[in-house]
Amino acid sequence: MAILTSLTQLPLALYVHMPWCVKKCPYCDFNSHGLRGEPPYADYIDALLADLDGDIADVGEALHGRPIASVFFGGGTPSLFAPGHIARFLDGARARLDFAGDCEITLETNPGTVEHGRFDGYLAAGVNRLSFGVQSFDDAKLQRLGRIHSAAEAEQAVKQARDAGYDNFNVDLMYALPEQTLAGALADIERAAALGPAHISHYQLTLEPNTAFHAKPPPLPDEDSAWDMQEACQARLAEAGYTQYEVSAYAKPDRRCRHNLNYWQFGDYLGIGAGAHGKLTDAAGRVHRRWKRRHPRTYLNAADHPARTDGTQLVAADQLPFEYMLNALRLIDGVPMSDFATRTHLDDDAIAEALARCRANQWIEPGSTRLRTTPLGQRFLNDVIGTFMP
Ligand SMILES: C[S@@+](CC[C@H](N)C(=O)[O-])C[C@H]1O[C@@H](n2cnc3c(N)ncnc32)[C@H](O)[C@@H]1O
Ligand code: SF4
Repeated sequence: MAILTSLTQLPLALYVHMPWCVKKCPYCDFNSHGLRGEPPYADYIDALLADLDGDIADVGEALHGRPIASVFFGGGTPSLFAPGHIARFLDGARARLDFAGDCEITLETNPGTVEHGRFDGYLAAGVNRLSFGVQSFDDAKLQRLGRIHSAAEAEQAVKQARDAGYDNFNVDLMYALPEQTLAGALADIERAAALGPAHISHYQLTLEPNTAFHAKPPPLPDEDSAWDMQEACQARLAEAGYTQYEVSAYAKPDRRCRHNLNYWQFGDYLGIGAGAHGKLTDAAGRVHRRWKRRHPRTYLNAADHPARTDGTQLVAADQLPFEYMLNALRLIDGVPMSDFATRTHLDDDAIAEALARCRANQWIEPGSTRLRTTPLGQRFLNDVIGTFMP
């Protein structure tokens, strides 16, 4: 990526990838690696800071005057890292970058990794939001998913976090699990809502290539049953006070995840850590992507060297409508029409024809002020987004 000399006013976030898990789950295609001995925690934090220094050296001018609005430690299992490690990274990041006063700082947490009461430490380090990978409250389903924790342990972890002072936390659930019934999916929603999280992510289990489930698929509910589960759970979540604002995201008022909203609204972000992706827009509206070495060992070996960056790409202008819609149309309320031009620096003409086709199919609402899918468009979202392919 060339040095960017000026910038747009797009919000800026920081993603930090932590690539280890106690054990690889059979459905997961994230860049996560089951433990084989103790990970080099301290070296990895050093590598993250060196990686950040490298990005600042390469694109630092594009970061001036743009405070970091959110930080997200994703994985993998960031909660394998003790609070001291997280604090060292955040202190280092704050010394290098300007953080917004109300910066949202989220850490993904596997309930099977926090038995030592780490929450006070995370809070002291500056982590002000937690995301728990719970998946289900049915122990038989958890076993089937290869999870390392029981439902009771997940509830215990959430209660410990609350006792430590966390009120802003998310619970990840999956539905359409092997042999799951509608009643089973709804029971998971009840148990999640009873814990009073600020946010619930509700993902349909998908069979991803290169996973154990893909190689040997379990018996999953069919697409119609999955859709019925989604609709019934959405209604139950609404009754419990959680508004759906994205395909898989539900929140109490004012508790939407700012970090993920920034992705869906086509904001910019730095991506630090093994396999992390970043996106930066320059003043001319060109979108630059860069990504880091994927394997933790290769990443660690290259972290203080330009080779840590595995690739960069200047996104072709004719790809931007598709990339923009892929994100924006996931939002239930869509985005202001004017955002398309300010975030891609393209003319509305670039999407006029595809938009007309979507409207003719009643996939996108009529009117010129917002880009928003209809309920029919939400059901066939992949087809809608595909319309914007070059
Ligand atoms: C990086 S993981 C979250 C934190 C932690 N690694 C854990 O699993 O406890 C992000 C979330 O993605 C969801 N997820 C992962 N693989 C999925 C799949 N194949 N289909 C649907 N959701 C998936 C899970 O709900 C998971 O909690
Ligand atoms: S713990 Fe989370 S990131 Fe790790 S393998 Fe399981 S789902 Fe994937």
